Amino acid sequence: MSIINKTISFLSRLLQTAKMVRRYWREGDVVRVNIAQIQYGGILKGKSVIITGGGSGIGLAIARKCIKEGATVLITGRNKDKLVKASKELNSPLLKIIEWDVSKVSEHESKYSEALALVGHQFDILVNNAGMLGGNRQFLDLTESVWDEIHKVNSKGLVFLTQCIVKKWITGKQKGKIINISSMRGTLGVQDGPYGMSKWSLNGLTQGLGLKLVPYGISVNGIAPGIIDTESIAIKNMDAKENAYLKEIPISRIGLPEEIAELAIFLMSDAANYIVGQTIICDGGYTLKV
Ligand SMILES: NC(=O)c1ccc[n+]([C@@H]2O[C@H](COP(=O)([O-])OP(=O)(O)OC[C@H]3O[C@@H](n4cnc5c(N)ncnc54)[C@H](OP(=O)(O)O)[C@@H]3O)[C@@H](O)[C@H]2O)c1
Repeated sequence: MSIINKTISFLSRLLQTAKMVRRYWREGDVVRVNIAQIQYGGILKGKSVIITGGGSGIGLAIARKCIKEGATVLITGRNKDKLVKASKELNSPLLKIIEWDVSKVSEHESKYSEALALVGHQFDILVNNAGMLGGNRQFLDLTESVWDEIHKVNSKGLVFLTQCIVKKWITGKQKGKIINISSMRGTLGVQDGPYGMSKWSLNGLTQGLGLKLVPYGISVNGIAPGIIDTESIAIKNMDAKENAYLKEIPISRIGLPEEIAELAIFLMSDAANYIVGQTIICDGGYTLKV
C-alpha cells in the first residue's frame, strides 16, 4: 500500500475515533434510544392473533403490544419453558401458549384445532414470525442440511401454516390479516446464503399472496427488520461499547424489538388497509448504504 493510501486510511480512522469520543463525551457510554410507543386505546379489542415463535424477541414484543391493545394472543414455539417464561412475564389472561413447531407440516391441522380450542374463536391475524437465522454461510460453503434446516422453518413451515389458516378463512368467509416477519437480508440481491434467500422468497410470497388474497378481504404485508436486539443475533459476542454504538448502521445503533412491534400493530390495524403485499423495511438505514 502506498504511503498516500496509508495516510488516508489513518486519517479516516482518526476522524471516526474523534467522532466516537465526541459522542461519549456528550452522551456518556451509551446510545440513548428515543422511541415512542403509540397507545391506540384498544385498537385490537375482540381480535385474536396467532404469533409463531412468540416466546422471545420480536414475536414476544409484538405479543405484548397486541395484548396492550386488547387482543387475545396465542404464541407458539418448540420450547415449552420459553413459552411458560413468556407467559409469566406478560402475566395476562389474554395470552395463550402452545408448543407448535411450524416446520412439522403434518401436525398443522391438529395443532390448529388445539389452538382454536384454547382461544375459543377463529383467529383474525396471523403473524409469521418464527424463523431460523442462518449466520453468514455463503454459497460455496453451503450444505444441503443447512439449507434444509433453514428452509423447513422459514419457507416450508411458514407456507403450509399460512395455507392451513387461509383455507379456514376462505371457507368461513372470514377476513384476516397476515404479517410476515422477513429481514432486510431478504431485500439485498447480493445475499447468497440460505437465510437471505429464504427471506427473499418470503418477500415474493408476501407480494404474490397480497394480490391473490385481497379479493377475499385478506390482507398480507411484511416487515423487514434490520439488526434487532434479540437472543438470536450475536450481540452477546460484541463489546459493550460496540453494542451501544454500531457504526455500520446509519442511525448508529441496533434496533429494539419494540420498534418492530409498533410497525406490526400499525399493519394489523385498519389504518393500513390500503397497503397490499408490501414488505416494509425497518433497519435504521442499513440497506440504503449497501
Ligand atoms: N433479530 C434480528 O436482528 C432480526 C433481523 C431480521 C429479521 N429477524 C426475524 O425476526 C424473526 C424473529 O427473530 P428474533 O430475532 O426475535 O429471534 P428469537 O428471539 O430467537 O425468536 C425466534 C423465535 O422463533 C421460535 N422458533 C424457531 N424455530 C421455530 C419453529 N420451528 N417453530 C416454532 N417456533 C420456532 C423460537 O422459539 P423456540 O426456540 O421455542 O422454538 C423463538 O421464540 C425471525 O423470523 C427472524 O428471521 C430478526
